[in-house]
Amino acid sequence: MARPRTVFRCAECGTTVPKWAGRCPGCEEWNTLIEEFDVAPSATTAVLGPRDEPTPISEVDVAEWQARPTRIDELDRVLGGGLVPGSVTLIGGEPGIGKSTLLLQAMAAIATEGVTVLYISAEESKQQVRLRAERLGTLQPTLWLASETSLPHILDHIDRIGPTVVIVDSIQSVHHPDISSAPGSVAQVRDCAARLVATAKSRDLAIVLVGHVTKEGGLAGPRVLEHVVDTVLAFEGDRHHALRLLRAAKHRFGATDQLGLFEMTGDGLVGVPDPSRLFLADRRRGVSGSVVVPTMEGHRPLLVELQALVTRSSLASPRRSSQGVDNGRLSLLLAVLAERAGFSFAERDVYALAVGGVKVAEPAADLGLTMALASALAGQPLPADLVVCGEVGLGGELRQVAHCERRLAEAARLGFTRALVPRLSPEPPEGITAIRVGSLTEAVSAIGITVPSSRG
Ligand code: TYD
Ligand code: MG
Repeated sequence: MARPRTVFRCAECGTTVPKWAGRCPGCEEWNTLIEEFDVAPSATTAVLGPRDEPTPISEVDVAEWQARPTRIDELDRVLGGGLVPGSVTLIGGEPGIGKSTLLLQAMAAIATEGVTVLYISAEESKQQVRLRAERLGTLQPTLWLASETSLPHILDHIDRIGPTVVIVDSIQSVHHPDISSAPGSVAQVRDCAARLVATAKSRDLAIVLVGHVTKEGGLAGPRVLEHVVDTVLAFEGDRHHALRLLRAAKHRFGATDQLGLFEMTGDGLVGVPDPSRLFLADRRRGVSGSVVVPTMEGHRPLLVELQALVTRSSLASPRRSSQGVDNGRLSLLLAVLAERAGFSFAERDVYALAVGGVKVAEPAADLGLTMALASALAGQPLPADLVVCGEVGLGGELRQVAHCERRLAEAARLGFTRALVPRLSPEPPEGITAIRVGSLTEAVSAIGITVPSSRG
Protein backbone atom coordinates (compact mmCIF):
# COMPACT_ATOMS: atom_id res chain seq x y z
CA MET A 1 0.00 0.00 0.00
CA ALA A 2 1.29 3.43 -0.88
CA ARG A 3 2.23 5.61 2.07
CA PRO A 4 -0.14 8.56 2.54
CA ARG A 5 1.36 11.72 1.08
CA THR A 6 1.81 14.76 3.28
CA VAL A 7 -0.08 17.83 2.13
CA PHE A 8 -0.81 21.20 3.67
CA ARG A 9 -4.43 22.23 3.85
CA CYS A 10 -5.82 25.69 4.58
CA ALA A 11 -8.02 25.74 7.70
CA GLU A 12 -10.05 28.58 6.23
CA CYS A 13 -10.82 27.62 2.64
CA GLY A 14 -9.66 24.00 2.36
CA THR A 15 -7.11 24.64 -0.43
CA THR A 16 -4.31 22.06 -0.43
CA VAL A 17 -0.72 22.70 -1.41
CA PRO A 18 2.22 20.25 -1.49
CA LYS A 19 4.60 22.56 0.36
CA TRP A 20 4.10 24.70 3.43
CA ALA A 21 3.82 28.43 2.83
CA GLY A 22 3.08 31.35 5.16
CA ARG A 23 0.11 32.41 3.11
CA CYS A 24 -2.65 30.31 1.59
CA PRO A 25 -2.68 30.71 -2.20
CA GLY A 26 -6.46 30.09 -2.21
CA CYS A 27 -7.84 32.69 0.20
CA GLU A 28 -4.64 34.64 0.91
CA GLU A 29 -5.00 34.25 4.68
CA TRP A 30 -1.78 34.04 6.69
CA ASN A 31 -0.73 31.05 8.84
CA THR A 32 -3.69 28.87 8.00
CA LEU A 33 -1.91 25.96 6.32
CA ILE A 34 -1.88 22.81 8.44
CA GLU A 35 -0.05 19.57 7.70
CA GLU A 36 -2.23 16.59 6.87
CA PHE A 37 -1.98 13.17 5.28
CA ASP A 38 -3.62 13.06 1.91
CA VAL A 39 -6.01 10.15 1.52
CA ALA A 40 -7.36 8.56 -1.61
CA PRO A 41 -10.32 10.66 -2.81
CA SER A 42 -12.75 7.73 -2.63
CA ALA A 43 -12.38 7.65 1.14
CA THR A 44 -12.66 11.36 1.70
CA THR A 45 -15.53 12.33 -0.58
CA ALA A 46 -18.96 12.34 0.99
CA VAL A 47 -21.39 9.46 0.70
CA LEU A 48 -23.44 10.30 -2.38
CA GLY A 49 -26.81 9.43 -0.92
CA PRO A 50 -29.77 8.00 -2.81
CA ARG A 51 -30.46 8.93 -6.44
CA ASP A 52 -33.19 11.52 -6.96
CA GLU A 53 -35.64 11.49 -9.88
CA PRO A 54 -36.44 14.77 -11.64
CA THR A 55 -39.97 16.02 -10.82
CA PRO A 56 -42.07 18.86 -12.34
CA ILE A 57 -41.73 21.79 -9.95
CA SER A 58 -45.47 21.95 -9.27
CA GLU A 59 -45.47 18.33 -8.11
CA VAL A 60 -42.65 18.67 -5.61
CA ASP A 61 -43.98 17.72 -2.18
CA VAL A 62 -43.17 20.34 0.44
CA ALA A 63 -45.20 18.88 3.30
CA GLU A 64 -42.13 17.23 4.80
CA TRP A 65 -40.35 20.59 4.92
CA GLN A 66 -42.54 21.83 7.73
CA ALA A 67 -40.31 23.20 10.44
CA ARG A 68 -40.63 21.54 13.84
CA PRO A 69 -40.77 24.15 16.61
CA THR A 70 -38.17 23.69 19.32
CA ARG A 71 -40.52 25.45 21.78
CA ILE A 72 -37.67 27.80 22.67
CA ASP A 73 -39.24 30.98 21.30
CA GLU A 74 -36.05 32.94 20.70
CA LEU A 75 -34.48 29.99 18.87
CA ASP A 76 -37.60 29.40 16.77
CA ARG A 77 -37.63 33.08 15.86
CA VAL A 78 -34.10 32.84 14.40
CA LEU A 79 -34.85 29.53 12.69
CA GLY A 80 -38.01 30.97 11.17
CA GLY A 81 -40.24 28.44 12.92
CA GLY A 82 -38.06 25.56 14.00
CA LEU A 83 -35.84 22.74 12.78
CA VAL A 84 -36.59 21.41 9.30
CA PRO A 85 -36.54 17.61 8.82
CA GLY A 86 -33.68 16.58 6.52
CA SER A 87 -31.67 19.69 7.32
CA VAL A 88 -28.37 20.28 9.06
CA THR A 89 -27.84 23.29 11.29
CA LEU A 90 -24.45 24.38 12.54
CA ILE A 91 -24.34 26.43 15.72
CA GLY A 92 -21.05 28.18 16.32
CA GLY A 93 -19.85 30.04 19.37
CA GLU A 94 -16.94 30.46 21.74
CA PRO A 95 -16.40 27.79 24.40
CA GLY A 96 -18.51 28.46 27.49
CA ILE A 97 -21.01 30.72 25.76
CA GLY A 98 -23.86 28.23 26.32
CA LYS A 99 -24.25 26.17 23.13
CA SER A 100 -24.64 22.86 24.98
CA THR A 101 -27.07 24.44 27.42
CA LEU A 102 -29.23 25.92 24.67
CA LEU A 103 -29.39 22.67 22.70
CA LEU A 104 -30.07 20.54 25.76
CA GLN A 105 -32.95 22.85 26.65
CA ALA A 106 -34.28 22.72 23.09
CA MET A 107 -34.01 18.92 22.93
CA ALA A 108 -35.73 18.52 26.30
CA ALA A 109 -38.54 20.81 25.10
CA ILE A 110 -38.97 18.76 21.91
CA ALA A 111 -38.87 15.53 23.92
CA THR A 112 -41.74 16.68 26.16
CA GLU A 113 -43.99 15.92 23.17
CA GLY A 114 -42.86 12.31 23.21
CA VAL A 115 -40.56 12.76 20.20
CA THR A 116 -37.33 10.73 20.28
CA VAL A 117 -34.23 12.90 20.22
CA LEU A 118 -30.61 11.82 20.44
CA TYR A 119 -27.92 13.95 22.02
CA ILE A 120 -24.39 12.88 21.08
CA SER A 121 -22.00 14.38 23.56
CA ALA A 122 -18.52 14.05 22.12
CA GLU A 123 -16.93 16.21 24.79
CA GLU A 124 -18.74 15.48 28.02
CA SER A 125 -19.77 12.27 29.75
CA LYS A 126 -23.40 11.19 29.91
CA GLN A 127 -23.27 11.86 33.66
CA GLN A 128 -22.23 15.46 33.07
CA VAL A 129 -25.05 15.98 30.59
CA ARG A 130 -27.57 14.38 32.93
CA LEU A 131 -26.46 16.61 35.79
CA ARG A 132 -26.91 19.63 33.56
CA ALA A 133 -30.39 18.44 32.55
CA GLU A 134 -31.25 18.01 36.24
CA ARG A 135 -30.04 21.51 36.93
CA LEU A 136 -32.27 22.71 34.10
CA GLY A 137 -35.12 20.78 35.70
CA THR A 138 -35.86 18.65 32.67
CA LEU A 139 -35.22 14.93 32.50
CA GLN A 140 -37.22 13.60 29.55
CA PRO A 141 -37.52 9.85 28.92
CA THR A 142 -37.39 10.24 25.11
CA LEU A 143 -34.16 12.25 25.24
CA TRP A 144 -31.36 9.74 24.60
CA LEU A 145 -27.73 10.37 25.44
CA ALA A 146 -24.55 8.86 24.04
CA SER A 147 -21.04 9.96 24.85
CA GLU A 148 -19.43 9.13 21.53
CA THR A 149 -16.70 10.45 19.27
CA SER A 150 -16.56 7.83 16.53
CA LEU A 151 -18.72 8.63 13.52
CA PRO A 152 -19.53 5.00 12.56
CA HIS A 153 -20.80 4.43 16.11
CA ILE A 154 -22.86 7.63 15.93
CA LEU A 155 -24.46 6.54 12.63
CA ASP A 156 -25.13 3.17 14.22
CA HIS A 157 -26.88 4.79 17.20
CA ILE A 158 -29.03 6.81 14.81
CA ASP A 159 -29.96 3.57 13.03
CA ARG A 160 -30.94 1.79 16.21
CA ILE A 161 -32.78 4.57 18.04
CA GLY A 162 -34.46 6.22 15.06
CA PRO A 163 -34.52 9.76 16.45
CA THR A 164 -36.27 12.75 14.87
CA VAL A 165 -33.60 15.21 15.93
CA VAL A 166 -29.90 14.57 16.58
CA ILE A 167 -27.38 16.87 18.25
CA VAL A 168 -23.66 16.36 17.69
CA ASP A 169 -21.76 18.32 20.34
CA SER A 170 -19.25 19.10 18.91
CA ILE A 171 -18.36 18.29 15.31
CA GLN A 172 -14.70 19.06 16.02
CA SER A 173 -14.52 16.17 18.51
CA VAL A 174 -15.98 13.60 16.11
CA HIS A 175 -13.73 11.50 13.90
CA HIS A 176 -14.00 8.75 11.32
CA PRO A 177 -11.39 5.97 11.51
CA ASP A 178 -11.26 5.73 7.68
CA ILE A 179 -9.80 9.22 7.52
CA SER A 180 -6.19 9.18 8.55
CA SER A 181 -5.98 12.81 9.66
CA ALA A 182 -6.17 13.64 13.35
CA PRO A 183 -9.55 14.39 15.02
CA GLY A 184 -10.33 18.10 14.70
CA SER A 185 -8.34 18.42 11.46
CA VAL A 186 -9.88 20.04 8.42
CA ALA A 187 -10.34 16.73 6.59
CA GLN A 188 -11.98 15.03 9.59
CA VAL A 189 -14.38 17.86 10.36
CA ARG A 190 -15.39 18.35 6.75
CA ASP A 191 -15.85 14.68 5.93
CA CYS A 192 -17.69 13.80 9.15
CA ALA A 193 -20.01 16.76 8.55
CA ALA A 194 -20.60 15.67 4.93
CA ARG A 195 -21.50 12.14 6.04
CA LEU A 196 -23.90 13.51 8.65
CA VAL A 197 -25.49 15.75 6.00
CA ALA A 198 -26.02 12.69 3.78
CA THR A 199 -27.61 10.86 6.74
CA ALA A 200 -29.90 13.80 7.51
CA LYS A 201 -31.10 13.99 3.90
CA SER A 202 -31.63 10.26 3.46
CA ARG A 203 -33.49 9.82 6.77
CA ASP A 204 -35.36 13.14 6.93
CA LEU A 205 -33.64 13.81 10.16
CA ALA A 206 -32.88 17.24 11.62
CA ILE A 207 -29.26 17.35 12.76
CA VAL A 208 -27.69 20.14 14.75
CA LEU A 209 -23.89 20.34 14.83
CA VAL A 210 -22.07 22.34 17.46
CA GLY A 211 -18.92 24.08 16.22
CA HIS A 212 -16.36 25.88 18.33
CA VAL A 213 -15.28 29.23 17.11
CA THR A 214 -11.77 30.63 17.10
CA LYS A 215 -10.76 33.96 18.66
CA GLU A 216 -11.11 35.67 15.31
CA GLY A 217 -14.72 34.54 15.09
CA GLY A 218 -14.22 31.89 12.38
CA LEU A 219 -15.23 28.30 12.93
CA ALA A 220 -12.24 26.31 14.10
CA GLY A 221 -11.78 24.02 11.15
CA PRO A 222 -12.62 24.62 7.56
CA ARG A 223 -14.93 27.33 6.48
CA VAL A 224 -16.08 24.76 3.91
CA LEU A 225 -18.30 23.43 6.70
CA GLU A 226 -20.50 26.46 6.23
CA HIS A 227 -21.17 25.42 2.64
CA VAL A 228 -22.04 21.85 3.57
CA VAL A 229 -24.81 22.69 6.04
CA ASP A 230 -28.21 24.34 5.45
CA THR A 231 -28.16 26.78 8.32
CA VAL A 232 -25.37 28.46 10.23
CA LEU A 233 -26.22 30.06 13.56
CA ALA A 234 -23.84 32.18 15.60
CA PHE A 235 -24.23 32.26 19.37
CA GLU A 236 -22.48 35.30 20.77
CA GLY A 237 -22.18 37.38 23.86
CA ASP A 238 -19.74 38.80 26.30
CA ARG A 239 -18.84 36.13 28.83
CA HIS A 240 -18.83 38.69 31.62
CA HIS A 241 -22.42 39.59 30.89
CA ALA A 242 -25.46 37.35 31.02
CA LEU A 243 -26.78 38.43 27.63
CA ARG A 244 -26.49 36.02 24.68
CA LEU A 245 -27.34 36.82 21.06
CA LEU A 246 -28.30 34.24 18.49
CA ARG A 247 -28.13 35.13 14.80
CA ALA A 248 -28.43 33.23 11.55
CA ALA A 249 -25.40 33.78 9.31
CA LYS A 250 -26.87 31.53 6.63
CA HIS A 251 -30.35 30.02 6.40
CA ARG A 252 -31.74 28.03 3.49
CA PHE A 253 -35.26 28.01 4.94
CA GLY A 254 -35.81 31.62 5.83
CA ALA A 255 -34.48 35.09 6.55
CA THR A 256 -31.14 35.70 8.21
CA ASP A 257 -32.04 38.98 9.81
CA GLN A 258 -33.74 37.74 12.94
CA LEU A 259 -32.13 38.05 16.34
CA GLY A 260 -32.70 35.80 19.32
CA LEU A 261 -31.86 37.12 22.77
CA PHE A 262 -31.23 35.10 25.89
CA GLU A 263 -30.05 35.68 29.40
CA MET A 264 -27.84 33.05 31.06
CA THR A 265 -29.28 32.42 34.50
CA GLY A 266 -28.79 29.82 37.22
CA ASP A 267 -31.62 27.87 35.59
CA GLY A 268 -30.20 27.91 32.08
CA LEU A 269 -30.94 30.24 29.20
CA VAL A 270 -34.06 32.35 29.46
CA GLY A 271 -35.48 34.20 26.46
CA VAL A 272 -35.53 37.99 26.65
CA PRO A 273 -38.69 39.16 24.91
CA ASP A 274 -38.19 42.81 25.90
CA PRO A 275 -34.45 43.51 25.54
CA SER A 276 -34.69 47.30 25.51
CA ARG A 277 -36.14 47.30 29.00
CA LEU A 278 -33.31 45.00 30.14
CA PHE A 279 -30.62 47.24 28.65
CA LEU A 280 -31.99 50.38 30.20
CA ALA A 281 -32.82 48.88 33.60
CA ASP A 282 -29.73 50.17 35.43
CA ARG A 283 -29.49 53.50 33.67
CA ARG A 284 -28.74 56.55 35.83
CA ARG A 285 -30.24 59.81 34.71
CA GLY A 286 -28.44 63.14 34.81
CA VAL A 287 -24.96 61.73 34.22
CA SER A 288 -22.85 63.32 31.50
CA GLY A 289 -21.62 61.09 28.68
CA SER A 290 -24.70 58.86 28.61
CA VAL A 291 -27.03 58.62 25.63
CA VAL A 292 -29.72 56.18 24.48
CA VAL A 293 -29.64 55.10 20.84
CA PRO A 294 -32.29 53.04 19.05
CA THR A 295 -30.33 50.44 17.05
CA MET A 296 -31.68 47.73 14.75
CA GLU A 297 -30.71 44.11 15.24
CA GLY A 298 -32.15 42.46 12.17
CA HIS A 299 -35.84 43.35 12.24
CA ARG A 300 -35.74 44.14 15.90
CA PRO A 301 -35.34 47.64 17.28
CA LEU A 302 -33.23 47.69 20.39
CA LEU A 303 -32.57 50.62 22.71
CA VAL A 304 -29.00 50.66 23.94
CA GLU A 305 -27.22 53.05 26.25
CA LEU A 306 -23.86 54.35 25.04
CA GLN A 307 -21.49 55.84 27.56
CA ALA A 308 -18.41 57.98 27.16
CA LEU A 309 -15.84 59.10 29.70
CA VAL A 310 -13.19 61.73 29.03
CA THR A 311 -10.25 62.30 31.39
CA ARG A 312 -6.98 64.24 31.35
CA SER A 313 -4.25 62.16 29.81
CA SER A 314 -0.66 61.89 30.90
CA LEU A 315 0.24 59.85 27.83
CA ALA A 316 2.07 61.19 24.81
CA SER A 317 -0.55 59.62 22.64
CA PRO A 318 -3.81 59.62 24.62
CA ARG A 319 -5.83 56.47 25.05
CA ARG A 320 -8.89 55.71 22.89
CA SER A 321 -10.57 52.69 24.41
CA SER A 322 -13.86 51.17 23.36
CA GLN A 323 -16.08 48.23 24.26
CA GLY A 324 -18.97 47.21 22.04
CA VAL A 325 -18.21 50.20 19.81
CA ASP A 326 -15.81 50.06 16.88
CA ASN A 327 -12.49 51.65 17.77
CA GLY A 328 -11.87 53.00 14.26
CA ARG A 329 -15.31 54.60 14.26
CA LEU A 330 -14.60 56.16 17.66
CA SER A 331 -11.37 57.76 16.36
CA LEU A 332 -13.14 58.99 13.25
CA LEU A 333 -15.97 60.59 15.22
CA LEU A 334 -13.50 62.23 17.62
CA ALA A 335 -11.74 63.76 14.62
CA VAL A 336 -15.02 65.00 13.13
CA LEU A 337 -16.11 66.45 16.49
CA ALA A 338 -12.81 68.32 16.78
CA GLU A 339 -12.63 69.64 13.22
CA ARG A 340 -16.31 70.36 12.53
CA ALA A 341 -17.77 71.25 15.91
CA GLY A 342 -14.80 72.51 17.94
CA PHE A 343 -14.79 69.76 20.59
CA SER A 344 -11.11 68.93 20.96
CA PHE A 345 -10.06 65.72 22.69
CA ALA A 346 -6.32 66.40 22.49
CA GLU A 347 -4.53 65.48 25.74
CA ARG A 348 -7.63 63.56 26.83
CA ASP A 349 -8.10 59.85 27.30
CA VAL A 350 -11.41 58.74 25.85
CA TYR A 351 -13.40 55.66 26.85
CA ALA A 352 -16.60 54.60 25.10
CA LEU A 353 -18.79 51.60 25.65
CA ALA A 354 -22.14 50.05 24.84
CA VAL A 355 -23.85 48.96 28.07
CA GLY A 356 -24.89 45.34 28.62
CA GLY A 357 -22.24 43.60 26.51
CA VAL A 358 -23.89 44.34 23.15
CA LYS A 359 -21.98 45.40 20.07
CA VAL A 360 -23.24 48.50 18.29
CA ALA A 361 -21.74 48.46 14.80
CA GLU A 362 -24.31 50.53 12.90
CA PRO A 363 -23.44 53.99 11.53
CA ALA A 364 -26.92 54.92 12.80
CA ALA A 365 -25.34 55.12 16.27
CA ASP A 366 -22.78 57.75 15.12
CA LEU A 367 -24.77 60.78 16.20
CA GLY A 368 -25.55 59.17 19.55
CA LEU A 369 -21.89 58.40 20.18
CA THR A 370 -20.76 61.91 19.24
CA MET A 371 -23.39 63.38 21.58
CA ALA A 372 -22.16 61.11 24.40
CA LEU A 373 -18.57 62.22 23.72
CA ALA A 374 -19.47 65.92 23.57
CA SER A 375 -21.56 65.57 26.73
CA ALA A 376 -18.69 63.80 28.54
CA LEU A 377 -16.15 66.44 27.48
CA ALA A 378 -18.42 69.31 28.47
CA GLY A 379 -19.55 67.61 31.69
CA GLN A 380 -23.15 68.38 30.75
CA PRO A 381 -25.73 65.59 30.78
CA LEU A 382 -28.21 65.03 27.96
CA PRO A 383 -31.95 65.28 28.64
CA ALA A 384 -33.24 62.02 30.17
CA ASP A 385 -36.20 61.70 27.78
CA LEU A 386 -34.04 61.97 24.62
CA VAL A 387 -32.98 59.32 22.12
CA VAL A 388 -30.49 60.06 19.34
CA CYS A 389 -30.14 58.49 15.93
CA GLY A 390 -28.34 59.47 12.75
CA GLU A 391 -25.22 58.91 10.72
CA VAL A 392 -22.36 61.42 10.81
CA GLY A 393 -20.37 62.32 7.68
CA LEU A 394 -16.77 63.53 7.60
CA GLY A 395 -18.00 67.08 6.98
CA GLY A 396 -19.97 66.98 10.22
CA GLU A 397 -23.19 66.66 8.21
CA LEU A 398 -25.92 64.31 9.38
CA ARG A 399 -27.64 61.66 7.31
CA GLN A 400 -30.89 59.88 7.98
CA VAL A 401 -30.92 56.17 8.72
CA ALA A 402 -33.09 53.26 7.64
CA HIS A 403 -36.10 52.12 9.72
CA CYS A 404 -36.33 55.44 11.55
CA GLU A 405 -40.03 54.98 12.42
CA ARG A 406 -39.49 51.51 13.86
CA ARG A 407 -36.60 52.74 16.00
CA LEU A 408 -38.53 55.70 17.32
CA ALA A 409 -41.67 53.63 17.94
CA GLU A 410 -39.58 51.44 20.26
CA ALA A 411 -38.30 54.58 22.00
CA ALA A 412 -41.88 55.85 22.41
CA ARG A 413 -42.95 52.51 23.85
CA LEU A 414 -40.31 52.85 26.57
CA GLY A 415 -41.37 56.37 27.49
CA PHE A 416 -38.92 58.55 25.56
CA THR A 417 -40.54 61.74 24.28
CA ARG A 418 -37.88 63.45 22.15
CA ALA A 419 -35.62 62.29 19.36
CA LEU A 420 -32.59 64.09 17.96
CA VAL A 421 -32.60 63.14 14.27
CA PRO A 422 -31.13 64.31 10.93
CA ARG A 423 -33.16 67.03 9.21
CA LEU A 424 -34.80 64.90 6.52
CA SER A 425 -35.87 62.03 8.76
CA PRO A 426 -39.52 60.90 8.40
CA GLU A 427 -42.27 62.01 10.79
CA PRO A 428 -41.79 60.37 14.19
CA PRO A 429 -44.53 58.15 15.63
CA GLU A 430 -47.03 59.52 18.11
CA GLY A 431 -45.61 60.44 21.49
CA ILE A 432 -42.21 61.51 20.16
CA THR A 433 -41.19 65.00 19.12
CA ALA A 434 -38.44 65.20 16.50
CA ILE A 435 -35.62 67.68 17.01
CA ARG A 436 -34.33 68.05 13.45
CA VAL A 437 -30.73 69.09 12.89
CA GLY A 438 -28.46 69.24 9.84
CA SER A 439 -24.98 69.22 11.33
CA LEU A 440 -23.04 68.30 14.45
CA THR A 441 -22.84 71.95 15.49
CA GLU A 442 -26.63 72.28 15.26
CA ALA A 443 -27.04 69.01 17.14
CA VAL A 444 -24.97 70.02 20.16
CA SER A 445 -26.59 73.41 20.41
CA ALA A 446 -30.09 71.92 20.04
CA ILE A 447 -29.56 69.88 23.19
CA GLY A 448 -27.80 72.67 25.04
CA ILE A 449 -24.22 71.42 25.10
CA THR A 450 -21.54 74.07 24.79
CA VAL A 451 -17.90 73.72 23.84
CA PRO A 452 -15.93 73.80 27.10
CA SER A 453 -13.95 77.05 27.13
CA SER A 454 -11.56 76.70 30.05
CA ARG A 455 -9.93 73.32 30.02
CA GLY A 456 -8.16 71.66 32.87
P1 TYD B 1 -22.15 25.52 28.04
O1 TYD B 1 -23.52 25.28 27.53
O2 TYD B 1 -21.40 24.37 28.57
O3 TYD B 1 -21.26 26.28 26.95
P2 TYD B 1 -20.64 25.73 25.57
O4 TYD B 1 -21.32 24.45 25.25
O5 TYD B 1 -20.93 26.82 24.58
O6 TYD B 1 -19.18 25.59 25.79
O7 TYD B 1 -22.32 26.65 29.15
C1 TYD B 1 -21.24 26.98 29.92
C2 TYD B 1 -21.51 28.07 30.91
O8 TYD B 1 -22.86 28.33 31.21
C3 TYD B 1 -20.85 27.65 32.19
O9 TYD B 1 -19.86 28.62 32.47
C4 TYD B 1 -21.91 27.62 33.22
C5 TYD B 1 -23.00 28.43 32.63
N1 TYD B 1 -24.35 27.95 33.01
C6 TYD B 1 -25.17 28.77 33.74
O10 TYD B 1 -24.82 29.90 34.12
N2 TYD B 1 -26.44 28.32 34.09
C7 TYD B 1 -26.87 27.09 33.73
O11 TYD B 1 -28.02 26.72 34.05
C8 TYD B 1 -26.00 26.26 32.96
C9 TYD B 1 -26.44 24.88 32.54
C10 TYD B 1 -24.75 26.72 32.62
MG1 MG C 1 -20.44 22.54 25.21
